[in-house]
Amino acid sequence: MDSYKQQVIELYNSRTAYDQEEGTRHPRDANFLLESVPIEKGQKILDIATGTGLVAIPAAQKVGSEGYVIGVDMSVGMLHQARLKVEATGVKNIELIEADANYLNFSESSFDAIFCCEAIMFLSNIPASLQTWYRFLKPGGFVAFTCPPETAYMAPVYKSICTKVLGISIPHIHEPYGTTEKCHNLLEQAGFRNIEVKIEPSGRYRKLRGDGASWKWINLNFKGNPLLAKLS
Ligand SMILES: C[S@@+](CC[C@H](N)C(=O)[O-])C[C@H]1O[C@@H](n2cnc3c(N)ncnc32)[C@H](O)[C@@H]1O
Repeated sequence: MDSYKQQVIELYNSRTAYDQEEGTRHPRDANFLLESVPIEKGQKILDIATGTGLVAIPAAQKVGSEGYVIGVDMSVGMLHQARLKVEATGVKNIELIEADANYLNFSESSFDAIFCCEAIMFLSNIPASLQTWYRFLKPGGFVAFTCPPETAYMAPVYKSICTKVLGISIPHIHEPYGTTEKCHNLLEQAGFRNIEVKIEPSGRYRKLRGDGASWKWINLNFKGNPLLAKLS
């Protein structure tokens, strides 16, 4: 297994209280995504990088016993949290699969909707994934994903600081997204039509200097905040 993939798995395996991190951010983002797609009883849903099932479990409740949801993730720790929640809620129409979302193989026209919340930036080839999801969807189906904008406190800002201040570049993580136009073009090139890109301000801000923790999420090879090393 390549070391990047191994690090992502270890990172998420270590986040044992994921739903409670940063207040209600994760459930709120998942709910925002879920509400953007009209889900009906009996539908078949795929949730890519399902994590703790924040999208998959409510989706399973929405499609009811005639429908079903498949959630895929490569972190056993996140899937364990999802399984505990599935048991607690009693939903039966959900299957959780441990797999790398870069290598999925479902039949054409299998799903009415495909979600990917807060995870598309981890995939190694986003255009190829979008094309694959397009094939997995039934005609008239929906794909919905979230990603931070270019102006978010996260990767793009950190990435440009790394380039400008430190003179180093960080790898592909969080790269090919960030503007309404980019998202629109990526979706259009994959074959999607009737595309809607919404900007949802989070109202959250972070200090660049003292914020070692968020560097960990951005580039797993950094230990702490590299700006501190450069500036001290
Ligand atoms: C920020 S969490 C989002 C989880 C969930 N979608 C949510 O919104 O709560 C990112 C998830 O992506 C998963 N992930 C990252 N790369 C993946 C890959 N290549 N295949 C499957 N899962 C992946 C991680 O294990 C983690 O659970």
